[in-house]
Amino acid sequence: MNPTEYLSANDARIHEELFDFLRIPSVSARSEHAKDVARGAEWVATSLRNAGLDAKVHSTAGHPVVVGEWRRAGAGAPTILVYGHYDVQPAEPLDLWQSPPFEPTIRDGRIYARGSVDDKGQLFLHVKALEAHLKTRGTLPVNVIVLAEGEEEVGSEHLAEFIESHKDLLRCDGVIISDSAMFAPGLPSILSSLRGLAYFQIDVRGPSGDLHSGSYGGAVVNPAMALARILATFHDADGRIAIPGFYDAVRDWPENVRAQMRALPFTDEGFRHEVGAPALGGEKGYTTLERIWTRPTCEVNGLLSGYTGEGAKTVLPAVAMAKVSCRLVPDQDPKEIERLMKAHIERVAPKGVTVTVTHLHGGRPWRADLDGPLFDAAKRALKAAFGREPVITGEGGSIPVVGDFQRILGAPVLLVGFGLPGENAHAPNEWMSDENFVKGMRAIAELWDEIGKGR
Ligand code: BES
Ligand code: MN
Ligand code: MN
Repeated sequence: MNPTEYLSANDARIHEELFDFLRIPSVSARSEHAKDVARGAEWVATSLRNAGLDAKVHSTAGHPVVVGEWRRAGAGAPTILVYGHYDVQPAEPLDLWQSPPFEPTIRDGRIYARGSVDDKGQLFLHVKALEAHLKTRGTLPVNVIVLAEGEEEVGSEHLAEFIESHKDLLRCDGVIISDSAMFAPGLPSILSSLRGLAYFQIDVRGPSGDLHSGSYGGAVVNPAMALARILATFHDADGRIAIPGFYDAVRDWPENVRAQMRALPFTDEGFRHEVGAPALGGEKGYTTLERIWTRPTCEVNGLLSGYTGEGAKTVLPAVAMAKVSCRLVPDQDPKEIERLMKAHIERVAPKGVTVTVTHLHGGRPWRADLDGPLFDAAKRALKAAFGREPVITGEGGSIPVVGDFQRILGAPVLLVGFGLPGENAHAPNEWMSDENFVKGMRAIAELWDEIGKGR
C-alpha cells in the first residue's frame, strides 16, 4: 500500500478522528475554555504519537504548545517544520449556526464546525499525511517537526518567546503551513504574502457618570462625539490613511507580482456579491485585490457608547470605546505603527475628554521568496493532487508567527492552504470542503515524496 492508498483505505476512521478533534471547544479567547484548550493540546499530541511521531505538550505562560518530532532521516537530512493551530475563535452568535458549532456535520460536501477549516482540519490533514507515510513506508525522506499552538487566534503572544527559547529543538530548513484558502474551488494556491497587525483599544472618558442630555448636553464634551471625531481623522477623502508617517516603511510591490494578481480569475462584481455590500470601497488608485493584499488598513472592529437598547433614551454617555486594528504590509513594524497611532491620537483628541490607547496585540507582515526546492516540490505535489498548476496568491489576513519563523529560525516558509472563499472562518457556519480535506491530505502526502525526490 502506498500513502495515497492508505488514506483512501482509512477514510472513514480519519473522518471520525477529525470529528473528535472538532468536538473540543478549544476557544483560546475565553478563560472558561482553558481546560478545553489544554484538552485540545493533549488530543493533538496523542494523534501525533499514533501517527508515529514523538510528541510533547509544553506549557507556556499562555496556552500549551505541542511539539511532535520524527528525526530518523538522520543528521545529514534536512528538517522540515509543519506549523498549525489547534485553538479556534469563539463560536458566538450561536443562534446563527444551522448545526451546533462543536457538533461537526457534513452537509453538501462541507464539514460544518467551528475550527473545521481554521485551522483544525488543515492541521489534522498534515498529521494524517505523515501517518500515511510512516504506516506504509515506515520512513520519511526528511526529518519532521510538528509545532501546534493554542494561541493563534489571540495573537500568538507567547509563541515568539517559545521559539526563541527552543531554537535548538525547532531548528529547521523550511516551514510548511496550511492555514489559508485556495483562490477558487479546484484551483490550488500558494500564498506569497500575509499582512501584519497592530491592534488597539481606544477609551474616551468624559464626565464621571452618564448625564441627562438635556440638562447637560451642549455644555459638556460628549465622549461618543469625541471618539467619532478621532476616528474620522484616520482616513482622508481618498481612503488613504492620514496618520503622519504611517506609509513611511511601505515597500512597493514588484510589478511582476502585481501582474500575476491581475491575471487571477476575479471580478469586483462577484466579490461584491460574495460580501453582500451595496458597493465596494477603499483606497483610491488600487484594485480590490491590491487593496486587500498589498495595502495597509486602519479599521474599526468594535464600537461601544451610550444607550443602544430599544427606543430612545436621552443620555450623554460618560465613556466611549473603540477597538481599532491596522493591517500592515512589508516593512511596517507593529511597534512603530503603535507609536505613530498614539502620537496622532494625542494630537487630534478634543479637549474636555481623556483618551487612552491600549495595545492589544501585534504581528509582522510577511512576503515570500517564491523559489527554492520547497516551492518547486509544492508546485508538483499540488498539480498531482488537484490536476492543475497552482496559482500564486496574496492574503489580507495575518498569521503572526510567520514573520517570527523567518526572523528567528531563518527558514523559508511555504503557505499552502486548502480553505475556500466563503468558508465563514471566524463567523457562524464555518465549513471546510470535504473534497479539499481529502485532496489536501493527498497533496501533502505527495509533497513529502516530492521533497524526497528533490534531494
Ligand atoms: N488562518 C487565519 C489567517 C488567515 C486569514 C489566513 C484569512 C488566510 C486567510 C488565522 O487563524 C487568523 O485568523 N489570524 C488572525 C490573526 C489575529 C487574531 C492575530 C487574523 O488575521 O485576524
Ligand atoms: Mn488560522
Ligand atoms: Mn483564524
